Amino acid sequence: MRIDRVSDDRDLDAIVALETESFTNPWTRETLEWELRNSDVTHIYVLRLEDGIVAAFCVCWIIFDELHINTVAVAPAERRRGRATALLKHVMAEAAARHAVRATLEVRASNIAALKLYEGLGFRVTATRPRYYSQPEEDALILWRDGLDL
Ligand SMILES: CC(C)(COP(=O)(O)OP(=O)(O)OC[C@H]1O[C@@H](n2cnc3c(N)ncnc32)[C@H](O)[C@@H]1OP(=O)(O)O)[C@@H](O)C(=O)NCCC(=O)NCCS
Repeated sequence: MRIDRVSDDRDLDAIVALETESFTNPWTRETLEWELRNSDVTHIYVLRLEDGIVAAFCVCWIIFDELHINTVAVAPAERRRGRATALLKHVMAEAAARHAVRATLEVRASNIAALKLYEGLGFRVTATRPRYYSQPEEDALILWRDGLDL
């Protein structure tokens, strides 16, 4: 597998498909397109399998010395194979190279798979944002990890 930073629209269809099948309230193509084209802080990464197929992606922001992980998704058939772990380790290493020293993200309180993934990567729950999510309404857990050395 290979992890690439996305710099043009070529992988957008694959990313939109993964986003749509992974979330009840997905980011739209327009939002992803805007992030890709206009935002100085946005970094989008894809994980490709040997045949070039995009199996996972991550959208994050690097804001000063903080990495904000906005969305991560792995194709259902590729889950539980260490894909998200590999992708996030890569994202954290790239952010560290750009002088980020901590990372944060929000996750639905019921998303046990994601919580276990993040806790395995050294993130800890620091706060709850009540009823933050819609479709369905749910609390958000806010996680942080201090230090991005792997
Ligand atoms: C959450 C998600 C990104 C995990 O991707 P993944 O590639 O399957 O994760 P990994 O294989 O790297 O798993 C790492 C660890 O996370 C935990 N984990 C992952 N999926 C799990 C599940 N379904 N149930 C329990 N723990 C799980 C395990 O501890 C796992 O380690 P193990 O396989 O050695 O036990 C994936 O399930 C997904 O795309 N879900 C839908 C989108 C989503 O919820 N994204 C996160 C939003 S914040």
